[in-house]
Amino acid sequence: MIRTIKELRCWSRQQHHAQKRIGLVPTMGALHEGHLSLVKTANQYCEATLVSIFVNPAQFGVNEDFYQYPRPLENDLRLLQTVGSPEVFVPDVAEMYPAGFDALVHIGGVTQPFEGAFRPTHFDGVTTVVLKLFLASETDAAFFGQKDFQQVCVIRKMVTDLNIPVEIVVCPTVREPDGLAMSSRNRYLTESQRAQAVVLSQSLTLAEKMIIDEKIFNTETIRQKIRQKIRQKIRSKIETASDMKIDYIAIANPKTLDELTTIDSDAVILVAARIGTTRLIDNVLLSIADHR
Ligand code: PAF
Repeated sequence: MIRTIKELRCWSRQQHHAQKRIGLVPTMGALHEGHLSLVKTANQYCEATLVSIFVNPAQFGVNEDFYQYPRPLENDLRLLQTVGSPEVFVPDVAEMYPAGFDALVHIGGVTQPFEGAFRPTHFDGVTTVVLKLFLASETDAAFFGQKDFQQVCVIRKMVTDLNIPVEIVVCPTVREPDGLAMSSRNRYLTESQRAQAVVLSQSLTLAEKMIIDEKIFNTETIRQKIRQKIRQKIRSKIETASDMKIDYIAIANPKTLDELTTIDSDAVILVAARIGTTRLIDNVLLSIADHR
């Protein structure tokens, strides 16, 4: 296990010297099958896989769950042994943000809507730490889950705009058998909340089915009305869970995240809702090519 950036650089240089490509899986720990699938994909792509475990204070708002965020390091290390024992980087806060640290990576545009509107400082914290991890590890590729769809858009934009030589690989969302997207925060849910949380993924499945059934992609006249119908369908489904409070339901261009008024090209449907003090997000990507 590597604790410092200096040691990490040394490890990375050794890998590159041995002609190995490095694949970084950035995480905040509390690992689940979703993270493990990223590690498995990284193992296929690269000869040297690195998992970072760092609960990044910079991406939590003042009233968010930084202090409660689970940190089951022993269990995480045990889980990583089941997927090829990748190298693990576990810095402490002072290593990543030494006294006097005063930098911020800010990406405009795609950081603003949806999560950005509800968590205004969140993405600056994400891009700052992810860029630091990219630079410290000199990684060739980095692996992220589609579940954090907007985060992936933001990181892709950062990589493009700053000419960062890291390939971004996005892996499908891993779900519980009933459809709930896996998340480290699912462990906050009480039994009743867990039972209700499933409406989020169910609402997206319904919306997707509605779009396919109505052959929306094939019609020439895809109008606001249909878009509203989809949003209403999602809303009604989510509202069947009495404790679920919707933050947003959005249908957007998957690259720019601009909201779509008509669905005649690829689209992503994004939802976020709170249940108790836990915030859950999910999304589905609709590829027009699949439905024409
Ligand atoms: O997705 C996460 O777990 C975090 O946002 C990340 C990418 C590890 C940055 O702290």
